[in-house]
Amino acid sequence: MFHDYANFIPDYSKFLSTIKEKLPTTGWFNPDLISRRQLEEFFNNHRIEYRFLKWNNEAFFFKSKVSLGVSLPYALGQIHLQEEVSMIPGFIAKSLKPRIVLDMCSSPGNKAAQIGIQLKENNSYIIANEPRLPRHSQLKSNLQRMGVSNAIYTKYDGASFPVLEEKVDLVYADVPCSCEGTSRKNKIKKISSKELEKLCNTQLAILKRGFANLKPNGHIIYSTCTYNPLENELIIDQFLKSEIGDQVEILPIEIKGLEYSPGITSYKSRDFSQEVKKSIRIWPHQNDSGGFFITLIRRRPNGDT
Ligand SMILES: C[S@@+](CC[C@H](N)C(=O)[O-])C[C@H]1O[C@@H](n2cnc3c(N)ncnc32)[C@H](O)[C@@H]1O
Repeated sequence: MFHDYANFIPDYSKFLSTIKEKLPTTGWFNPDLISRRQLEEFFNNHRIEYRFLKWNNEAFFFKSKVSLGVSLPYALGQIHLQEEVSMIPGFIAKSLKPRIVLDMCSSPGNKAAQIGIQLKENNSYIIANEPRLPRHSQLKSNLQRMGVSNAIYTKYDGASFPVLEEKVDLVYADVPCSCEGTSRKNKIKKISSKELEKLCNTQLAILKRGFANLKPNGHIIYSTCTYNPLENELIIDQFLKSEIGDQVEILPIEIKGLEYSPGITSYKSRDFSQEVKKSIRIWPHQNDSGGFFITLIRRRPNGDT
């Protein structure tokens, strides 16, 4: 299935063997509600095998006979279960210290919860947007359980999200995608070229609409859980070459203790801007995780191109 990507996946045979293995279970704790010492005590008392992740001291890997999803710390919002790669955007967001966040594609709210608990400034809030109403209940229950009370829930197509009067510091665009990177936990459905084209148009449109709501100097985190360069580097390339391209820059991402690769600059006879190399690709065999793609974008201050 991933043969098309063989020439840019580092150590392709290791990739193929890793994606056949079961995905490790990981999570993070809310330091406002439980300390690391208390969590370790809980793990030890329940004979849960665990270790903290090298790149994030609030995130842990664990092995337990009983799911932590039915534990007391989970019910109290002290911990949340989330795939390792999915925690990276929230980790990046923390270093940006935003006051107002717009999460354009937010359900089930894993990353919105992680970002929401970081918002400590007065009048800080997160707009959690999700166009599909049936996906709102899980979104709300996750944010409420984790104690994110400063959330506003909206139900727009991200591509036509209203242009707000008060612009935001951080736009998070965790766009709908072909989900190839989740093959260790879900069966991946091959999508048609027509479906792919529609998806790519939506991804670019969401990104542009996010930009329309961003303050000068604000940031956009764009992410997908897919390997397909047409949904990753090509979208960033098209964004950079669009009418707004000169108002933004791509920032490098550095996360100590996490292994990843740079974005690629060509695919199937298409060349992308060299700037997309600053994006990161996290391959399953690098950290024993799922696959992910992330780009960090900054809106330049007005007049600074
Ligand atoms: C990758 S998931 C988001 C996961 C979420 N950020 C989290 O961490 O829990 C993508 C979400 O985008 C939503 N979506 C689909 N089409 C959309 C659109 N046109 N605009 C905004 N969101 C959309 C999907 O319903 C889905 O909930």
